[in-house]
Amino acid sequence: MSTSLKVNGQVHTVEAEPDTPLLWVLRDELGLVGTKYGCGVAQCGACTVHIDGVAMRSCVTSLARVGGKAVTTIEGVGANPVGAKVQEAWKAIDVPQCGYCQAGQIMSATALLAAAPKPTDDEIDTAMNGNLCRCATYIRIRKAIKAASGQVEA
Ligand code: FES
Ligand code: FES
Repeated sequence: MSTSLKVNGQVHTVEAEPDTPLLWVLRDELGLVGTKYGCGVAQCGACTVHIDGVAMRSCVTSLARVGGKAVTTIEGVGANPVGAKVQEAWKAIDVPQCGYCQAGQIMSATALLAAAPKPTDDEIDTAMNGNLCRCATYIRIRKAIKAASGQVEA
């Protein structure tokens, strides 16, 4: 079935069933492989993208649920000033270790800062709670979020 969706500002038409997870449409149909598969059941956050600016798990979001909404992935988040700041802070603090979880971390952090420009520790914990990192980069992630929000030096 033919479906149109808007990703990173561009409209694409894909041939996929409506119940296909958005993650597979992004990776397999559109070649946007920055969004990662971790668990497939909304438990790790590796597949996080924005749908109309809200952080969502693309592994459990069907193509049908995306509808005419705007999807943003790690490949496009830098076009958003908040996303660009988050990416700069991530680089300055050298957050990633293996890197596998980091696209999802950046997407969740950007959604947080768009909603709460100077988040408290509790707000950071709540927003980032579902993004797991097997390399345990949590301390650097927190510092990068605070740097991107101007609360600490990078
Ligand atoms: S792959 Fe989607 S939350 Fe783990
Ligand atoms: S940097 Fe390796 S899983 Fe997070």
